[in-house]
Amino acid sequence: MIICYCFQVTKEDIESRIANGETLAGIRATTGLGYGCGGCASLAERAWGEESEPEATNGSRPRTVGVKTFP
Ligand code: FES
Repeated sequence: MIICYCFQVTKEDIESRIANGETLAGIRATTGLGYGCGGCASLAERAWGEESEPEATNGSRPRTVGVKTFP
């Protein structure tokens, strides 16, 4: 099944590379996945992207790296 029509990247290719330890970012860099029309990018991100950070359950505040706060 073709996921990226612009660069002819298949679902099987992506899953094989993921199984071999590649990240989605690495796959995108080597195949061009998502860098053509961009139509496949959100699908690939939802299916194989990194999990978003889980919300804190211990009462701690979320990380705010790069966010300036003022008193
Ligand atoms: S379908 Fe993947 S970049 Fe166009």
